[in-house]
Amino acid sequence: MDHFNYRNGELFAEDVAVADLAERFGTPAYIYSRATLERHYQAYHKALGDRPGLICYAVKANSNLAVLNVLARLGAGFDIVSAGELERVIRAGGDPAKVVFSGVGKQPWEMRRALEAGVHCFNVESETELDRLNAVAAELGVQAPVSLRVNPDVDAGTHPYISTGLKENKFGVDITQAPAIYARAAAMSNLEVIGVDCHIGSQLTTVAPFLDALDRVLALVDTLAEQGIHIRHLDMGGGLGVRYQQEQPPEPYEYVSQLVERLGDRSLALVLEPGRSIAANAGILVTRVEFLKRTEHRNFAIIDAAMNDLIRPALYSAWQDIVPVHQREDEPEQQWDLVGPVCETGDFLGKERPLKLRAGDLLAVRSAGAYGFVMSSNYNTRNRPPELMVDGADVHVVRRRETLDDQLAPESCLPE
Ligand code: LLP
Repeated sequence: MDHFNYRNGELFAEDVAVADLAERFGTPAYIYSRATLERHYQAYHKALGDRPGLICYAVKANSNLAVLNVLARLGAGFDIVSAGELERVIRAGGDPAKVVFSGVGKQPWEMRRALEAGVHCFNVESETELDRLNAVAAELGVQAPVSLRVNPDVDAGTHPYISTGLKENKFGVDITQAPAIYARAAAMSNLEVIGVDCHIGSQLTTVAPFLDALDRVLALVDTLAEQGIHIRHLDMGGGLGVRYQQEQPPEPYEYVSQLVERLGDRSLALVLEPGRSIAANAGILVTRVEFLKRTEHRNFAIIDAAMNDLIRPALYSAWQDIVPVHQREDEPEQQWDLVGPVCETGDFLGKERPLKLRAGDLLAVRSAGAYGFVMSSNYNTRNRPPELMVDGADVHVVRRRETLDDQLAPESCLPE
């Protein structure tokens, strides 16, 4: 559930008319709903119940400072993949002691920064990364808390949409090799083994693969215990899907409760790294129809948002719902391809969408709060859109629209 609803045919973001925002701040523009973000986080938090643990929002999904700040105020933890994301968390008032640091390519300076800030755990993805982290921690004279990210190789036959949990990708280490690598880690003087980590993929719409992965990780925890290595927390990553079209993903509450139940009376804390399921449906991208262009084969609505603003449709053929900001009945419904001004055939936000359109109409691309603005670019020297956060009847500009000066400032011509 989210807080983007129609009132008398007009789309509202919480208590603010989207058309008013478009009027005041121009288009394209991202609009986020504070209440929706809070609701999604709280659903996760509540489902943990008495189980010790952390809900570490995956910053990569939407790293706007205000989004992080809203979650930090609720006591959220954060999953980061770079020193840059760590800086954002700190500036947004997040607690570094609730941060887990994931990613396959952490650089020494990033490790140093994270150790100085006092992150909760490093999710280490390879043996060589263990060596690097141990060396950096030794320089600083500290012990680095670590989990090893393991690849539980959950059954791809049953769940073909899972990509990152399989043996043949760059993430994590093979779970069968994990006991040996854990033994090495435990013997390193500047590492402290505290957890086991995995992340099996994104946009999963059933709980079964997560439970499969959990079973395999629990078996590993038992093996490690026999080796004298005692694990304190399990990090099951992110990956719970959202409804873009017809998907029926479980609610966060349902998903977390099942994990918690499976943990039974084991004294393990549970860490989760949800991104999309917190942020996606807390955001829309508002755009205006510039021109309608009918050709023999297709109807094009040329809109002012483009692939540089929201790349998911072009990059993954992702389907996101596109709805009118003002529902009109005075035009016939037709199939429209919604295309941007960028010079690429792949520049579309939706194809063959049944809509009643006129030039000048406003449209909202739904589920744009995750992997939206964060994946935007300046391709075609387009200024990136503003980000607005609605909070009840209030609106805050949480990132202003870029200007050409912003874009050109780091560049220079050759000297005379
Ligand atoms: N933890 C790790 C280690 C991850 O790699 C990811 C996402 C997450 C957590 C958060 O996963 P989520 O709950 O958001 O599924 N750009 C793509 C999605 C890439 C996901 C990458 N990793 C998209 O727009 O669909």
